[in-house]
Amino acid sequence: MTVHSTPAATLGSTGPLQFPTDFVWGMATASYQIEGAVAEDGRTPSIWDTFSATPGAILNGDTGEVACDHYHRMPEDVALLAELQARSYRFSVAWPRVRPDGGPVNRAGLAFYDRLVDELLAHDVVPWLTLYHWDLPQALEDAGGWTNRDTAHRFVDYALSVHDVLGDRVPTWTTLNEPFCSSLLGYTAGHHAPGRQEGAAGLVAAHHLLLGHGMVTAELRERGAERLGLSLNFTVADPSDPDDEADVDAARRVDALHNRLFLDPVFRGSYPADLLADTAALTWQGRPWYDVVLDGDLATISAPIDVLGVNFYHGNEVSGHPRTDVVGVGSDGPDRVALSPFVGSEHVTFPSRGLPVTDMGWEIQPEGLHRLLRRLHDEYTHLPIYLTETGAAFDDRPGPDGQVHDPDRIEFLRSYLAAVHLALEEGVDVRGFFQWSFMDNFEWAFGYAKRFGLVHVDYDTQQRTPKSSARWYAELSRSGTLSA
Ligand code: NOJ
Repeated sequence: MTVHSTPAATLGSTGPLQFPTDFVWGMATASYQIEGAVAEDGRTPSIWDTFSATPGAILNGDTGEVACDHYHRMPEDVALLAELQARSYRFSVAWPRVRPDGGPVNRAGLAFYDRLVDELLAHDVVPWLTLYHWDLPQALEDAGGWTNRDTAHRFVDYALSVHDVLGDRVPTWTTLNEPFCSSLLGYTAGHHAPGRQEGAAGLVAAHHLLLGHGMVTAELRERGAERLGLSLNFTVADPSDPDDEADVDAARRVDALHNRLFLDPVFRGSYPADLLADTAALTWQGRPWYDVVLDGDLATISAPIDVLGVNFYHGNEVSGHPRTDVVGVGSDGPDRVALSPFVGSEHVTFPSRGLPVTDMGWEIQPEGLHRLLRRLHDEYTHLPIYLTETGAAFDDRPGPDGQVHDPDRIEFLRSYLAAVHLALEEGVDVRGFFQWSFMDNFEWAFGYAKRFGLVHVDYDTQQRTPKSSARWYAELSRSGTLSA
């Protein structure tokens, strides 16, 4: 049984919906997922190069070595973004290009982003820069990675070198993308790079990532940056039976680990009390994990930000009992089960609600997005919110006419945008929407098997073919009107 849902009728009555004229229609990517050219112009390996080379880590043994070859095709890709009416482009910078091995600045690596930003501006596409979308230099991982507090300081050095060159032209700076994934999936579940499965390491990594976020925010603020923030990925956790204690407790734990572990320190300057109680017995290097939180850290982490980036794909029904009718797989999906030591029960399961799912096995749940936006507004912040990611993977293939028809993606986007519109009408300050992703790319542990793009990529020829959703989205960006 699903509780607290937005009345289906409200989201169903989509009529033509008009978005504000200054609503930002964007598209998003990330460095390791599209660039390729992993050894060019001084770049050294990141943790994702190492992880991809590990047998069994990535589906089909795929790697980001070539990816979409964007490093060599950037001008054509930017022209396509502009043709498809992207008003803003959210991309990330590869730390190991800018500071190979985490060491001194590499001008040749930075020059790529300098050219990218100029190219975007020349096409009237506003750049939106993410500093950390998971490609930590391997040399820093060798020194402990995000479990080492020093990595947060190295993150500041790196961020400043990027800002020195691009600060005059990039208006919005995102420090971290989805620290839930880069901490807990990387250091506890081991499904993401660096593939460590070390219990409390994920919590320690989360703290150091947040610390890095806070320190970078303060430093860039001092240098005059005016739009700073981070992108968090959220879930909406609904107990299977709101009257069943075990279900309610399981949903609370999932919410704590997935949402409040990041929201509370950023917006309230504290870690959630229930999460601290649940994890009190977990140790890191022989001491309670919480000892890594030093005096002043939470003040640093809660430095004011200007925009909140929201990444949302789906929520889950959560049960505290063994169930077999479960849904999905995926990088932010129910492989959270692997985090059960933190969730506090081996029995936390994600039962299917019978909703349609995407190719990731993720439930299509626009009303979850509406409830999430309301909750963020009601409980955490009235800052401008940008949907910095949502989208859907489907098994898109060119038809006999060479075109890629993806009505499922159009329907997905239409329903999620209707949820955004409803939140807007109710007073939630949503300013923009970045579709994940501009083009098909390297979907982390799933390699090239999952296609999230508005643009189809033929990985043999690198040919780009805009899908029908791309034309639909371009028209939406042009008109600002979501048709029924
Ligand atoms: C989350 C990540 O930020 C992005 O890199 C990933 O490809 C999408 N969501 C889809 O899983």
